[in-house]
Amino acid sequence: MWVFQGDSSLSSVTVSVIGAGRIGSAIISLLRGKVKGLIATGRRPSTLSNAERLGALPLSDNGRAASLADIIVISVKPHHFPDIALEISDYVEGKIVVSVVAGVRLSTLREALPGAEVYRAMPNINTLIGESTTAIAETGDGVEMPSRGLIEELFRVMGTVYWIPEEWIDVWTGLIGSGPAYLAEIIDGLVLGAVSMGVPRDVVYKAILDTMKATAKILEARSIHPAELRDEVTTPAGTTIYGLKVLEAKGVKSALMELVEAASKRGRELGEAIDSSVRSRLGIR
Ligand SMILES: NC(=O)c1ccc[n+]([C@@H]2O[C@H](COP(=O)([O-])OP(=O)(O)OC[C@H]3O[C@@H](n4cnc5c(N)ncnc54)[C@H](OP(=O)(O)O)[C@@H]3O)[C@@H](O)[C@H]2O)c1
Repeated sequence: MWVFQGDSSLSSVTVSVIGAGRIGSAIISLLRGKVKGLIATGRRPSTLSNAERLGALPLSDNGRAASLADIIVISVKPHHFPDIALEISDYVEGKIVVSVVAGVRLSTLREALPGAEVYRAMPNINTLIGESTTAIAETGDGVEMPSRGLIEELFRVMGTVYWIPEEWIDVWTGLIGSGPAYLAEIIDGLVLGAVSMGVPRDVVYKAILDTMKATAKILEARSIHPAELRDEVTTPAGTTIYGLKVLEAKGVKSALMELVEAASKRGRELGEAIDSSVRSRLGIR
């Protein structure tokens, strides 16, 4: 049996991605050339041929893909997870399994995949350009995670990595998972405002994107609270204070706070439903 060594690095492992869909394909593209071996599975011929084009060995047999791997990444939709768990559970002992499947808890992963060292990660759509903001869940129950460093290395290939207590994962999903959609909506609103004032969309769209990126950079570079930057820009009786007055009047800040609360609560609701359905389909009490 292959036993994982603490000093192993990504370049010495074979990774099998179970479910080469949107996120799985992005993971394959980013891992290509950085791991010793790369395997991908799917059901449809088009999924397999796409995985092959991206540089992975395509297999339709999940059990075989698991048996050939050192690290198994599960990237199927939640309702497909029980089938995958049943197909691979005989081949995971002593191996590392990472699930990016929404909702399925670490305790369920451990019970469904006995003998494996399991991790639960929550990337976001920015994985598609190698700039995911990924959370990896910790239970805080003192269970030793010997391959923590290697898993962090794996997800750093896809962007930034944050280790968070598993109890925060629903908030993460509601804020960072859904975050690109909120920011896209805000960008669209700002662009439409300029269009309404007579400036063409194609002129301001890129300018707003540049401004967003640079604002994030300046906040990070100067390590300041967002309110400090706001105050620097807000000159007395200038344009910014007139704009800010509208944000206040429309309750935009409290709307953003409520948005995160609502999305997090929905994340918890969905997570509980997914996890209990997976447990019941796998006969886990
Ligand atoms: N998309 C996101 O932004 C995002 C972010 C964070 C986490 N996630 C999580 O990542 C997971 C995947 O999401 P996605 O958006 O990548 O979904 P997706 O595009 O639908 O990909 C899922 C893949 O799983 C494959 N699959 C299904 N059943 C299979 C089986 N029995 N054996 C092998 N492959 C199988 C499908 O292949 P076929 O099409 O060939 O059946 C499909 O390519 C989900 O659990 C989601 O919650 C997604």
